[in-house]
Amino acid sequence: MRKVYLDNAATTFVSSEVMAEMLPCFNTIYGNANSLHSYGREASAIVDRARDRIAHAIHAKKSNEIYFTSGGTEADNWAIKGIAHAYASKGKHIITSSIEHHAVLDACKQLEKEGYEVTYLPVDKHGLVNVADVLHAIKKTTTLISIMAVNNEVGTIQNLKAIAKTAHDYGIIFHTDAVQAIGAVKIDVQDMEIDAMSMSAHKIYGPKGVGALYLRNGVQIENLIAGGSQERAKRGGTINVPAVAGFGKAVEIAVRDLSINQQKLRAIREYFIGKIEEKIPYIQVNGHPHQKVPSILNVSFEMAEGESILMLLDLEGIAVSTASACTSNVLEPSHVLRAMSIPDEIAQGAIRFSFGKNTSKSDIDYVVEVLAKVVAKLRSISPLTKAGRR
Ligand SMILES: Cc1ncc(COP(=O)(O)O)c(C=O)c1O
Repeated sequence: MRKVYLDNAATTFVSSEVMAEMLPCFNTIYGNANSLHSYGREASAIVDRARDRIAHAIHAKKSNEIYFTSGGTEADNWAIKGIAHAYASKGKHIITSSIEHHAVLDACKQLEKEGYEVTYLPVDKHGLVNVADVLHAIKKTTTLISIMAVNNEVGTIQNLKAIAKTAHDYGIIFHTDAVQAIGAVKIDVQDMEIDAMSMSAHKIYGPKGVGALYLRNGVQIENLIAGGSQERAKRGGTINVPAVAGFGKAVEIAVRDLSINQQKLRAIREYFIGKIEEKIPYIQVNGHPHQKVPSILNVSFEMAEGESILMLLDLEGIAVSTASACTSNVLEPSHVLRAMSIPDEIAQGAIRFSFGKNTSKSDIDYVVEVLAKVVAKLRSISPLTKAGRR
C-alpha cells in the first residue's frame, strides 16, 4: 500500500545529516560530558558545539543562554512556572493566549491553583492575538507574558516583536513557545526582544526527547531539577549527548535551509489547496490567509467528522491529524478553533495536513484522490446531509 505522511507538525523523520552527527556519540564518543578525563572532554565538546550552533541559529548573545531540556513541553513548563516563581515577590499575574499548546496552558492552570492570576487573551478569527489586548491586560502585578510564535494547529504567525516590545515597555518578561517556528520563520531573539524561548528537536528532523530553553542572561528562573551541576546547576542529570548533538545539527540545518524549504512547502501547499478546491465542495481553510507558515494547513470539511476522515485516510496509508480530543465519548472541538470562533460543527470536520521536506506533488495527488472519496462517503451517511443542510 502507498504511504503518505502529512503529520510533520506532530513529528518528522530524522534526517541523514542529523543521524550522521549522532551515530558516533553512541559507541565512539560515549563519555559522560561531566567527566574530567578525555572521554568526558570529548563528549563535553560535542555538547558545547550543539549549544553554540543553536545560540548562533537564533542569534542569542551567548551560548550559555541555551539550556537543554527533554523537549518543548519541559521547556514550556519550566519557563512558565520557573519564571513565575522567581518573580513571585514582584507580582503573580501572567498573560498568555487562549490558543497556546497545552504545555503552556496546563502550566498556567497549575499556577492558578497556587494562587496566581492568569489572563488568557482571545484571538481573532484568523488566530491572531491583538497587541492592544496585551497592553490592556497588563497590571501592576504582571511579571510574565507568554505568547506562542506559531500555532501548531493552524500555523498562524503572531506579531511577536510588537508583543515583546509591549511587555518590555512595562518591565515584563516575554516568553515564546517557538516549537513550530524554528525552521519555519526567521527567529532572532535579540532583534525580536525575546527573553525566554522554548524549542524542540523532533519537529525539525531531529531526534525525539530533546529540546531547549533559551533564557536571556539576567532573567531569573527557578532551578528545575536538583541533583547535578549540569546546565549550570539549573537542570541536573546526565546530558543525552547523542540527542543534543542531533538537535544542534537539526537547528543548524533548519536555519540554513529556511528559505528554500519555505519556497518548496509554499508550492506544495498551494498545489494542495488548488486540488482540494477543485475536487471537494464545502470546505473551509482555517488560519490566517497570509500570516502563516507554509507547512501547516488546517481544513474543515463540512458534514464530515474529522476523526472519521483521519481513520479512513489511515486505512489508505495516509497520516494526518485532527486537533480535537475525544473525552468521555464526547468529541470536543479543538480549543484553538473554538477560540477562533469557528462553529463547533465546522471545527469538528477539521483536519490538519502538515507537509514536510519530502512531500511531493504525486503524494498530494494521491491524498486528494483518496480524500475526495472518503469525504463523499462520510457525507452520504451524515445526519447533517440528511437533514438537508446542504
Ligand atoms: C507549539 C508546541 N509547543 C510544544 C510542543 C511540545 O513539544 P515536545 O513534543 O518536544 O514536548 C509542541 C508539540 O507538538 C508544539 O507543537
